Amino acid sequence: MSLLNINHFPRLELLGSPTPLEYLPRLSDYLGRDIFIKRDDVTPVALGGNKLRKLEFIAADALRAGADVLLTAGAIQSNHVRQTAAVAAKLGLKCVALLENPTGSVAENYLSNGNRLLLELMDTEVVMVDALHAPAAQLEEQATRLEAQGFRPYVVPVGGSNALGALGYVDCAQEIAHQSEGVVDFAAVVVASGSAGTHAGLAVGLELLLPETELVGVTVSRSVAAQLPKVATIRDELARSLDVACAAPVTLWDDYFAPGYGHPSEEGMEAVKLLARLEGIFLDPVYTGKAMAGLIDGIAQHRFRREGPIVFIHTGGAPALFAFQ
Ligand SMILES: Cc1ncc(COP(=O)(O)O)c(C=O)c1O
Repeated sequence: MSLLNINHFPRLELLGSPTPLEYLPRLSDYLGRDIFIKRDDVTPVALGGNKLRKLEFIAADALRAGADVLLTAGAIQSNHVRQTAAVAAKLGLKCVALLENPTGSVAENYLSNGNRLLLELMDTEVVMVDALHAPAAQLEEQATRLEAQGFRPYVVPVGGSNALGALGYVDCAQEIAHQSEGVVDFAAVVVASGSAGTHAGLAVGLELLLPETELVGVTVSRSVAAQLPKVATIRDELARSLDVACAAPVTLWDDYFAPGYGHPSEEGMEAVKLLARLEGIFLDPVYTGKAMAGLIDGIAQHRFRREGPIVFIHTGGAPALFAFQ
């Protein structure tokens, strides 16, 4: 278990303790397969979610750089932006967010409820853009504007997805390895793969700690061909920064994101309802509902490499339920 040492990276203790790894008895009965869930939806800041793990490292770097603003970007209903704004609030920093409307929805709930409502409560400075067509450049442009106003902005990449942020999911893999040791041998781990930092961090951690466990990333916005280089780039940089070798093939399933990013699907919403009804757990329409639809179909279609228990990473997102009806 000591193959990986992430302790030399500056880190803020935002998580406090490992998130629960729970068995889901009623879903397991329903699917005829043992299903566990890693509850990253209940991380302790601002209604939870996967970004807190990334922000432990990214925000530490921002403080070290002397920043007084966290500047980031995402969709109007971004969970990442909500969690970044909350961490900024906790640290006494300003938060500026570039937001786009990727679905073109004009529904009142989409435009002002859910995560967007929470940004309002946190006093986040919102800059609307037509599209995040070149987010890195658009964020740099805003950073220059803020510097001209006397601020010291720190750019948090979209989704907190760079090698630094992905360290948070190496940590999550370590938690899973510890929590399952001597208790359960996972055949597979299933996670939503979006801006790819979560997937990349798990890929590094699991390859080294649980090499017999298959990691499946269910894409939420792209084809396998488009998503693969995103995961591989972050994974390879992360592996280099940890001085470890990672070469396992990256498994991605892109059959479940239609009709497109941010547009709920029938199977995704069925999965949301199923988890609510059977386990009292809320998935979300954009990420985890679709990832769970992948897990369910993956079992039905015998897509997993081996038999045995599966763990689903619940990356959060339920606040967006209030934005979709
Ligand atoms: C609820 C939820 N799940 C999964 C993801 C995907 O994580 P990543 O962007 O690291 O791929 C996100 C990203 O915003 C998210 O908000």
